Amino acid sequence: MCGARINAAPRFLDNPFKLGVASGEPTQDGFVLWTRLAPSPFDEMSGMPLEPVAVEWQVTSDEGMSKVVAEGSAIADPTMGHSVHAEVSGLEPHRHYWYQFRAGGEISPKGRTRTLPAMGGGVDVVRIGVVSCQKYEHGYFTGFQHLSREDIDLVVHLGDYIYEKKGKFNQPRTHRGGTCYTLEEYRARYAQYKMDADLQAAHAAHPWAVSFDDHEVANDYAGADEGNGDPADEMTGRRTAAYQAYYENMPLRRAAKTNGPYISLFRRVYFGNLLAINILDTRQYRSEQPCYAGKKVERCDEVFDEKAAMLGMAQEKWLYDGLGVSRARWNTLAQQVIVAPRQLAENRYSMDKWDGYEMPRRRLIRALEERRVRNPIILSGDNHRHYVAEIKSKPEDQETPIIATEYIGGSIASRGDGSEMTNYGRRILKFNPHFKYFCDQRGYLVCTITPTQWRTDYRVMTYVERPGAPIETRVSFVTQDGHPGATKV
Ligand SMILES: [Fe+2]
Repeated sequence: MCGARINAAPRFLDNPFKLGVASGEPTQDGFVLWTRLAPSPFDEMSGMPLEPVAVEWQVTSDEGMSKVVAEGSAIADPTMGHSVHAEVSGLEPHRHYWYQFRAGGEISPKGRTRTLPAMGGGVDVVRIGVVSCQKYEHGYFTGFQHLSREDIDLVVHLGDYIYEKKGKFNQPRTHRGGTCYTLEEYRARYAQYKMDADLQAAHAAHPWAVSFDDHEVANDYAGADEGNGDPADEMTGRRTAAYQAYYENMPLRRAAKTNGPYISLFRRVYFGNLLAINILDTRQYRSEQPCYAGKKVERCDEVFDEKAAMLGMAQEKWLYDGLGVSRARWNTLAQQVIVAPRQLAENRYSMDKWDGYEMPRRRLIRALEERRVRNPIILSGDNHRHYVAEIKSKPEDQETPIIATEYIGGSIASRGDGSEMTNYGRRILKFNPHFKYFCDQRGYLVCTITPTQWRTDYRVMTYVERPGAPIETRVSFVTQDGHPGATKV
């Protein structure tokens, strides 16, 4: 909006901070602060004037907001849905900060965030929360209320932040409006999710590092290919709208700002030399699912296509090069779909997972082996159930050594209440001896990482279809330094 008049003293008809505040992308000396002005979130332009608006922000070193250590002004532009992505730097490592926005005479809710440890210094312990799949219609976001109270350094979101489909009746909650195709429709869907008080609490309590899966655009889409039979040119427009709405609503850096139907999301977060998190994008660059994209099929020749892509060439090179030079004790891949082979019944697999992309999976495992990557840990979402799996050198040969450990987190809401064990789960455990755990109830993971051990706590609720469920650590698994594989404790 070069040359557009910036309104430094806007007047709002209602509170413009109804979507809450967030922080993300922490570094040793800073983070991104996010908000999106929306006094009337479901009206045209979210009730905002068609002009850029000045938004002031302030960072303090105390919860009482009295010791100001950084402040500035950002422009909330109508072309970006009046979102704010303020990049703050020059702060101290490894400590909490508090922040707040002001626009016109209105003050935002207060948020707390945290910088990363200094690279040179030793880090004794890091704790991260791992979440995914929050289908609003299937339940309440009670898990986020619990997550807001966890003692963690970072929340990693593995995707399905929104679901794109139109509202259905007879569910615990209902999506407003139809299936999302346009920018306005995706913006309104984010607004509905972000008005949830529990989700706002989790954003206001911790910095987040986010990546998306399919439902931020369309179920099971792959690269530029349609997910549900939409023509490819329509898919390009839809992806452009969906990616922009994603950027507008997430605490991402300006480097991730979309360019048409493209967004740059793969990146690393380092906690000193203790932990490197490689945040991956397994949707944007992948080739179409093979074997007619079946959910439960025998694997056809296409699964072994050398040209098939899960990460795409550029992301694969970036990942393997980074893993090759990493000095981190624990090297994590935070990504979406299950990596370990998973027979749903005898010789029946889901083609949307890494099972449909055998050559990219072999390249990944070979990269971990050849580069002698120290302690590879894979974090996955997408499946809505909690699992633990071990990934073998030849994934389907149980006699080969374990190369990596995969911790798969269940959903915040998707699939509703669920139950601890199901026939589906019994089949998974029967056909896949490298799967060590199954639970079809909702929740998230808390990972505690020290130089000697990785521990994953499975934080589980027994219901989400009504509010108020308590949370418990249902089970914990550990991986010891130098010993891939998971042991229940
Ligand atoms: Fe999902």
